[in-house]
Amino acid sequence: MGIEPIPVGRGQGRSALLLLLAVAAAAMLSSPWLVTPVDASVSYDRKALIINGRRRILISGSIHYPRSTPEMWPDLIQKAKDGGLDVIQTYVFWNGHEPSPGQYYFGGNYDLVRFVKLVKQAGLYVHLRIGPYVCAEWNFGGFPVWLKYVPGISFRTDNEPFKAAMAKFTEKIVSVMKSEGLFESQGGPIILSQIENEYGPLEDYYGGGVAKNYASWAAHMAVGLNTGVPWVMCKQDDAPDPVINTCNGFYCDNFSPNKPYKPTLWTEAWTAWYTAFGGPVPERPVEDLAFAVARFIQKGGSFVNYYMYHGGTNFGRTAGGPFISTSYDYDAPIDEYGLLRQPKWGHLRDMHKAIKMCEPALVSADATVTKLGNYEQAHVFRLKSGACAAFLSNYNPKSSAIVTYNGKKYDIPPWSISILPDCKTAVFNTARVGAQTSQVKMSPVGKFSWMSFSEETNSLDDNSFTKNGLVEQISMTWDRTDYLWYTTSIDIGRNENFLKNGQNPVLTVMSAGHAMHVFINGQKAGTVYGGLDSPKLTYTGNVKLWAGSNKISILSVAVGLPNVGNHFETWNVGILGPVTLEGLNEGRIDLTSQKWTYQIGLRGESLNLHTISGSSSVEWGGASINQPLTWYKAFFNAPAGNEPLALDMSSMGKGEAWINGQSIGRYWPAYKAYGSCGGCDYHGTYSEKKCQTKCGESTQKWYHVPRSWLKPTGNLLVVFEEWGGNPTGINVVKRTAI
Ligand code: GAL
Repeated sequence: MGIEPIPVGRGQGRSALLLLLAVAAAAMLSSPWLVTPVDASVSYDRKALIINGRRRILISGSIHYPRSTPEMWPDLIQKAKDGGLDVIQTYVFWNGHEPSPGQYYFGGNYDLVRFVKLVKQAGLYVHLRIGPYVCAEWNFGGFPVWLKYVPGISFRTDNEPFKAAMAKFTEKIVSVMKSEGLFESQGGPIILSQIENEYGPLEDYYGGGVAKNYASWAAHMAVGLNTGVPWVMCKQDDAPDPVINTCNGFYCDNFSPNKPYKPTLWTEAWTAWYTAFGGPVPERPVEDLAFAVARFIQKGGSFVNYYMYHGGTNFGRTAGGPFISTSYDYDAPIDEYGLLRQPKWGHLRDMHKAIKMCEPALVSADATVTKLGNYEQAHVFRLKSGACAAFLSNYNPKSSAIVTYNGKKYDIPPWSISILPDCKTAVFNTARVGAQTSQVKMSPVGKFSWMSFSEETNSLDDNSFTKNGLVEQISMTWDRTDYLWYTTSIDIGRNENFLKNGQNPVLTVMSAGHAMHVFINGQKAGTVYGGLDSPKLTYTGNVKLWAGSNKISILSVAVGLPNVGNHFETWNVGILGPVTLEGLNEGRIDLTSQKWTYQIGLRGESLNLHTISGSSSVEWGGASINQPLTWYKAFFNAPAGNEPLALDMSSMGKGEAWINGQSIGRYWPAYKAYGSCGGCDYHGTYSEKKCQTKCGESTQKWYHVPRSWLKPTGNLLVVFEEWGGNPTGINVVKRTAI
């Protein structure tokens, strides 16, 4: 256990604590800041959010409902509660809820009402971040792709079509929540909402003017919806009253709200960081995370949300980026599979207990700060009535310190804070981890017997078309598929010198992103791909052409649409050229503006090969291995037990996998993590580059298979492999933590 024993007998310790709480509660009632209770509603003052007349220190955690399954929700919420959370925070994912204009969807893992009700049932509150821009490493930052094609639209600025769509969706969500009675003002669990997301940096970039008008419009639109609970804008220093501006970051102890009468709220305390294919996997030591939270609380912060408390999985094609991985594990206290990550979860739980013991003093008194040494301080919250809580800090990243406070000596490890809920006994220190450590195992439990089906390079359907010049990919696909074929022909005369001297011409193809496979006369010539830092890519290679007509077919692949950046709706994907061929008798020829044939999506996609009925509509052959553009299918029975499951895809290249017709996401184990993975030391300021793992290995080799997607027998697994992998190496694995 992380809580140090109180140096009295058990019973005595308990009654001392009860006395402490009673004294503090009495002190709170006489506090000058107490606001008259407004009936069953949420308000705030400079100290805290006030729920039913009571100021609260609230511990919150992000769990994004579509990143797990409804079957997982009750357990995740219970684990959050057991971890000492009061609030569950989630974004609302517009593109999941309104896949086409006016057609709403609230089923499956988008059943927001069910999620919010489950949180209520568990006795927790909800912070609903409606956005509707969410960032979140989610495809297109949560915007539906059709929004991009609304005439005259410009995202996240003072633009009428955008504002109309944003207002309509925000109203829709508020009205769904209201009709279910889910706001706290109606007796529901939602105590707080959010409009926009981190608009401040963009507003600065745009330089005020229209951006400022938009931010102020967004705030007023939201407040006008009369939810009876406060709204926040995170990273938005000029959030207009009564909207509360809040902090996001690895540390937020230097943050203060823009008005003295607003509370200090931390909407995203990053528990680590997201992962992108090709990047290492970030971790954050719990000692540093706990230190950051304790720093915030001792400075007067009263709401902390862990982003993420459970990160989960980017199922299907929901990952943004581009290049965000399918796993959104985030090194969160509850791991991607729903298991406790120890000691992270346990250590934070221990801290939450200690903070809760301080709550009466924290919400009623202001801290007196005393210097105890060069790096050491005491933050003391003392009420006249006697209630007192102290935080003793040591900011020295290298050495521990013995400090004297109230005549007693305390040993404080480097880069840590001790919490004394009665100003005497240190019940918790952020760097002394008492919680148990768990060991995670992924144990193989079975392989598959495969059949395969080849995707041809030149199969065109009724929707294919021919056009002079190159086209932007998303304007063609509307992101309904990752794939767009670009095909053109080139006639090679018999007198070309290269046919005799063997010096094959060089094909160069420039693409705006994100990956491509080049085929010449049906034979694969090469694959290139970009990365999180530079989605653009160029293929350059000698190509084997013959005399007569040659087909150049390029499969351009999108890997998630951007979720952040200045007007990301204008960013292009696909082969925009130039496309050139060099080394012919006439030198270099430019193929960019010649005739190209386009095919949206794969044949296997239009045949719905990932479904039971679609997959039985074609003839499958014996499993071929290491062939590009190959569909594989296999049937399997659910492994016994109830441990979470995954597919170990290490033997594969890149593609997508489906279980019983549902996509478990894009896989890309062939993309090895580049970057530096030194050791990880909790001391000193953390950044997402500090504690990286998996350098030189697959960024992600395990892919979560939700148990609830399986039947006991006869499950269909379909895999589409782009590169050429070996499916006989795919394993089902069970995840256990001991
Ligand atoms: C924040 C953003 C979140 C998420 C996070 C990184 O800036 O608000 O939505 O993108 O960064 O994981």
